[in-house]
Amino acid sequence: MITTKFLLRDVVDDDLPIFFAQQTEPDAIYMAAFTAKRPTDQAAFITHWRKILADATVLIKTIIADGQVAGYVLSYETDGKPEVSYWLGRAFWGQGLATRALTSFLAQVNQARPIYARVAKDNLGSIRVLEKCGFRIIGEDKGYANARGTEIEEWLFER
Ligand SMILES: CC(C)(COP(=O)(O)OP(=O)(O)OC[C@H]1O[C@@H](n2cnc3c(N)ncnc32)[C@H](O)[C@@H]1OP(=O)(O)O)[C@@H](O)C(=O)NCCC(=O)NCCS
Repeated sequence: MITTKFLLRDVVDDDLPIFFAQQTEPDAIYMAAFTAKRPTDQAAFITHWRKILADATVLIKTIIADGQVAGYVLSYETDGKPEVSYWLGRAFWGQGLATRALTSFLAQVNQARPIYARVAKDNLGSIRVLEKCGFRIIGEDKGYANARGTEIEEWLFER
């Protein structure tokens, strides 16, 4: 099914169990690679989300597709530099939603520029989303990926 109605809105409490379920999907965890140590620990997930929702430097929007919570898009600061991240439930992949969500997010939020992103080199979907949204590769790095249990390579993007 191709989504017709799409919007970004502020996160509400009822979104959190849905985000949690979406973040425990094995395909998604493998793909994202740089995940929480224990992605199935719901208490840790809720604690983390309460913290980031209260943090004024973290901007987060829920992605709504045809009235359903499809995922989220957010930006946070690392060493004072804003970075974007996003996650969609498996059922919502392949409809252009991440591209639409990131495009709208960048247009809506008042975030400092340039804005950055980092992605596992084998996360081809996320790389393509970033490219379609105007990001370009500015470097590479290595980091420990909890979902892979090893250090892996990542691309650094800027827009
Ligand atoms: C990565 C993710 C956000 C992509 O979401 P999506 O809504 O399916 O992406 P879109 O439909 O906007 O696709 C954008 C482009 O990427 C391509 N793409 C999407 N998934 C792909 C995949 N697994 N492999 C190769 N290309 C892929 C699409 O074909 C499209 O390119 P095109 O327009 O040239 O055909 C989604 O798979 C996801 O949430 N994954 C788990 C979490 C994650 O990895 N987050 C990013 C961490 S950096």
